[in-house]
Amino acid sequence: MPTSPAIRAYAARRFTQAVEQTMDARYAVTRNMADTALAPEALAVAAQGCEYLVVSLTEKVTAEVIAALEPTLKVICTLSVGVEHVDLEAARKAGVKVLNTPDVLSDATAEIAVLLMLGAARRAAEGARMIRDNAWHGWTPTQLLGQQLSGRRLGILGLGRIGKEVAKRAAPFGMKIHYHNRRPLPPEEALGAVYHDTSDGLLAVSDIFCIAAPSTPELKGFLNAERIARLPKDAIVVNVARGDMVDDDALIEALQSRRLFAAGLDVYRGEPNMDPRYRTLDNLFAIPHMGSATVETRDAMGFVLLDGLLALERGETPHNQLV
Ligand code: GLV
Repeated sequence: MPTSPAIRAYAARRFTQAVEQTMDARYAVTRNMADTALAPEALAVAAQGCEYLVVSLTEKVTAEVIAALEPTLKVICTLSVGVEHVDLEAARKAGVKVLNTPDVLSDATAEIAVLLMLGAARRAAEGARMIRDNAWHGWTPTQLLGQQLSGRRLGILGLGRIGKEVAKRAAPFGMKIHYHNRRPLPPEEALGAVYHDTSDGLLAVSDIFCIAAPSTPELKGFLNAERIARLPKDAIVVNVARGDMVDDDALIEALQSRRLFAAGLDVYRGEPNMDPRYRTLDNLFAIPHMGSATVETRDAMGFVLLDGLLALERGETPHNQLV
């Protein structure tokens, strides 16, 4: 696969300027200038004839899309670490390689987890709204009392690349870190966090419960009513992974009834069409899937894909090749 302007790439979204410039210099790029999320049928038509398909988490690269593009398609690049929107098995069968963006977004996503923890615990949405609505009538000793992070136990579901960065940032707040993975990490990698061999064990000690695991089929709907009931009373839930790992009915009920103190969410089932009840909750600090949204991280994500393509063209296997 020699680098040559003859290699045709289809970019399903707009990327940062630096990434687009490099892509354009290396390949014959067709781009979805409207920057809308393309449904599979539209993607299969728009990307006809491409060798490289560059998508993001908003495009579902289904078996049908892969079959429609198979005559020319060589590599699918997704500007995301999560790959649940790409049918990896269909890609494997079609001999199409898949690249994603691990590592480079862990810092930015962990920062967002800290923002969500603080925003939920310290009632930042309510405070900001009070200012915006000109509804602040002065300081009082009991106004907007929240929870402080120091001394609280942070339970991380998934102490992986992102989870570890969350743990590193939470420890200096004076939080005690607990985690559940399928297997315990070797002590030198566990950052002093306490391992729980069951998620139930982790839930029981999580004053703040942070979902940082990839959305696998086994974890769909993970945080349901039964599991929320295992959390300490007044716990806080934070999700920087995927919305489909939460049972919306159960979480909304627990926030409405104040069984939970608050939640901080970056991701939603069916986003951007989240359950509309989320918009009505005072004790929800909600932001629109911004985990990796910094210029440096989106640049790094683009370049890890472009570097991966160059490695493939040299006949090497890049570290971010999944299939
Ligand atoms: C973001 O959610 C990603 O998977 O990169």
